[in-house]
Amino acid sequence: MFEQIERVPGDAILGLIEAFNKDTNPQKVDLGVGVYRDARGNTPIMRAVKEAEALLLKNETTKSYIGSHGDPRYGEVTLPLVLGADSPVLAEKRASATQSPGGTGALRLAADFIKSKLPGKDIWVSDPTWPNHLGIFPAAGLTLHKYPYVDSDNRLDFDGMLGALKQIPQGDVVLLHACCHNPTGFDLTREQWQQVLEVVRERGLLPLIDFAYQGFGDGLEEDAYGARLMAENLDEVLITSSYSKNFGIYRERTGCFIAIAKNTEQMENVRSQMAIVARENYSNPPAHGSAIVCEILTSAELAAVWRDELTEMRDRINGLRRDFVEALKPHGLDGTFAHVAEQRGMFSYTGLKPDQVDRLRDEYGIYMVRSGRANVAGLSSENLPYVTEAIAAVSK
Ligand code: LMR
Repeated sequence: MFEQIERVPGDAILGLIEAFNKDTNPQKVDLGVGVYRDARGNTPIMRAVKEAEALLLKNETTKSYIGSHGDPRYGEVTLPLVLGADSPVLAEKRASATQSPGGTGALRLAADFIKSKLPGKDIWVSDPTWPNHLGIFPAAGLTLHKYPYVDSDNRLDFDGMLGALKQIPQGDVVLLHACCHNPTGFDLTREQWQQVLEVVRERGLLPLIDFAYQGFGDGLEEDAYGARLMAENLDEVLITSSYSKNFGIYRERTGCFIAIAKNTEQMENVRSQMAIVARENYSNPPAHGSAIVCEILTSAELAAVWRDELTEMRDRINGLRRDFVEALKPHGLDGTFAHVAEQRGMFSYTGLKPDQVDRLRDEYGIYMVRSGRANVAGLSSENLPYVTEAIAAVSK
């Protein structure tokens, strides 16, 4: 039977890890997969996480199952972080949290829920979006469409986006990036979020908000503006969140599917369905990542350490954005790449074309996604002159 199985190329983003590791160029620079890097190019374990793990190792008493919704404490710490400690949605008891294996797992839960419980609803994603969105939803059987997000000059195309949202059939699902848009780094302003809310309301759309980078844009609270606006002003909203990036626990697969319903009764109904969706996918989520998060967020001391570390990461990335543009000045390219300083989060849609990205890889050992997406955290004061000179060379 297997003779008819074709070989396919590996994942475009994850494949870069392997290609980079194999490269023997001593000056190589990894601007590929979205993991945070410090000034030395390492992805360290955060101090708060190390301390939490030491406590867990000492105090853990069982490895028994944690249940399809995950650790109940996990929902109690995640909902206020995402929705706001004094969110009316929490006071009204209309939000439910289901722990998931990473943000990707939460997206798959959302996809399966939509497919099986909201039949006939299509999903609309930004063009471009995180490439895995294009895989997850069709894999669950949903029909996927795109709305414009970036124009041909590599700027946010908000008019195009809003115009397209107004054409989406009533009741369909629209995926929005809460902050730190992946891959572009172009985020909506507060006024633009308000306008999107109006269209979503008018068309009766169901927003699915992918919230994988809370704290990497302007701050934990600031980055939640759009997600909270939707949650507080609409009856029904889905949110998928992740601790991979803001706790640096990528491999622990620690995400959350949040369903907001009109009232407690409907929320409980949806919640009961989510236990089945989770059960049929993987039964119970992994426990270690959620235990780390609970340990930290229920300790004022560890939470303060974590917040400081997150601020450090965010400040470093935003500083690198400015330094990058500055370093391009002598090459006369600071205007061409000025948008990099304005984008937010780990990624920048640089505007570099696939053939330029190929040359950067082949001639300089600089790795980024072929769409021109660069992980800004991979830059450092050490490699900045090398990277900007290489960019200048391929931009001629
Ligand atoms: C990325 O976009 O690089 C990250 O979210 C990692 C991934 O899974 O693709």
